[in-house]
Amino acid sequence: MFIPGGATLPGPQAPRSTQGGAGGFSVAQISPPEADYRPCQPPRRLQKTRMDLDLDYPAISDLRKRAKKRIPHFAWEYLDSATGEETTKTRNEADLDRVLFTPGILRGEVAADLRTTLLGRDYPLPFGIAPVGMSGMIWPGAEMTLAALAERLGIPYGLSTVACHLPETVSPHIDKQGWFQLYPTRDTDVRRDILRRAKDCGFHTLVLTADIPAAARRERQRRAHLNQPMKVTPGILAQVAMRPEWALGTLRHGRPRLRLMEDYARTLANRPDGSLDSTKHMGYLLRTVPDWDYLAETQAEWDGPVIVKGVMDPGDAVRMRDCGVAAAWVSNHSGRQFDASPSSVSVLPSIRAAVGPDYPLIFDSGSRSGLDIVRAIALGADFVMLGRAFHYGLGAFGAKGAAHVAHILTEDIVSTLGQMGVRRPVDARACLAPSQVFPPAGPFSVPDTGLQNTSMPKTA
Ligand SMILES: Cc1cc2nc3c(=O)[nH]c(=O)nc-3n(C[C@H](O)[C@H](O)[C@H](O)COP(=O)(O)O)c2cc1C
Repeated sequence: MFIPGGATLPGPQAPRSTQGGAGGFSVAQISPPEADYRPCQPPRRLQKTRMDLDLDYPAISDLRKRAKKRIPHFAWEYLDSATGEETTKTRNEADLDRVLFTPGILRGEVAADLRTTLLGRDYPLPFGIAPVGMSGMIWPGAEMTLAALAERLGIPYGLSTVACHLPETVSPHIDKQGWFQLYPTRDTDVRRDILRRAKDCGFHTLVLTADIPAAARRERQRRAHLNQPMKVTPGILAQVAMRPEWALGTLRHGRPRLRLMEDYARTLANRPDGSLDSTKHMGYLLRTVPDWDYLAETQAEWDGPVIVKGVMDPGDAVRMRDCGVAAAWVSNHSGRQFDASPSSVSVLPSIRAAVGPDYPLIFDSGSRSGLDIVRAIALGADFVMLGRAFHYGLGAFGAKGAAHVAHILTEDIVSTLGQMGVRRPVDARACLAPSQVFPPAGPFSVPDTGLQNTSMPKTA
């Protein structure tokens, strides 16, 4: 792994060796590294110490505010927006807030244990970095920075099909923690070649994103005149001029582009029937709506675990489990696709009940704190991924800000567990407040979460 600045703080393995006999650790021991990708470090005057960040930016909402001032408007709108009136996005966060726990007292000292196992791999923390397309447009070099951070922390990083940088460019920064996210390509030769490249680059887990059956309208992005490929208009240039650090970073890393898709657009354009221009090719190549056969073909072509992302229905999750899909990723794409979707957290209990206690469930959409991560795990998730939060951190302070996000989440999980007097996030299930009891063990039935009355979907 490329670490120009040199590693000064312990990597992911170190916290384990310093844990007490019961597997507990202190927050200080698992604080993420300061910064590991020098080109994206903020200028010296912005390089605050950890203590300063903790005091001035203790929450992800603080980083969000600062990021908004440092990212050009069009890129900010891309990151922060959802679709329609953004009610699904709001619902994701509001429903998480409704998951309550009974505080635990008189339990003595309890050392938190955040370690977990997912798909046969051990992780020191129960969260990771979700795939975000055009990540490098949000903050220059984001893909490499986040990959290096994930590697250092020992948590998964999902590289999107529509990232700004190629798997070959990102892979030197991520040794063991790479997941590759596939948008279902129409052309099966293209799919096979992408999978081959991702595998050759060392990405060991494949994530098939299935929740884009139609283009979403994403009105905020339209108002920001965000097109692909981007047209450099005077308005865009003016926005860039107002964000000098972003502009300089972009000069270093190159114009944000869908580099992987461009490779194939060029190839197909050279075929005898290649009559479309590259933009239309790009849409054509990317845009197919997968079915169960498509999933089976993809599974057959990937030597390793396949996760399906965008699962919101218990029946789908059960069928996936029975088809050998390694894990279901419960997500509504954070409200970016469908403004009438239930919140992801509200469907978690019924999906867990349907698939049983052992089938791996990954969760995302709306998590903004360590408490949210514990909430999702209490309602049935095994692991939580976050998209926007890490990008708010990047936008606020570059690599250091992304590391600070991991630190905030970790510290908050430890504090949350402490309030309940439990060691592991999964133990929080037993502390769900009375109206939201999730069965702590044994046969899983649909628990009364109190959320179901309002937003549980009807399932076949
Ligand atoms: C700007 C942006 C771009 C995204 N691009 C992708 C993508 O390329 N592929 C994908 O599977 N999901 C994509 N997602 C969804 C994320 O993987 C993840 O589901 C979502 O961000 C989780 O919600 P959160 O941002 O509230 O944590 C994107 C999300 C955002 C915010």
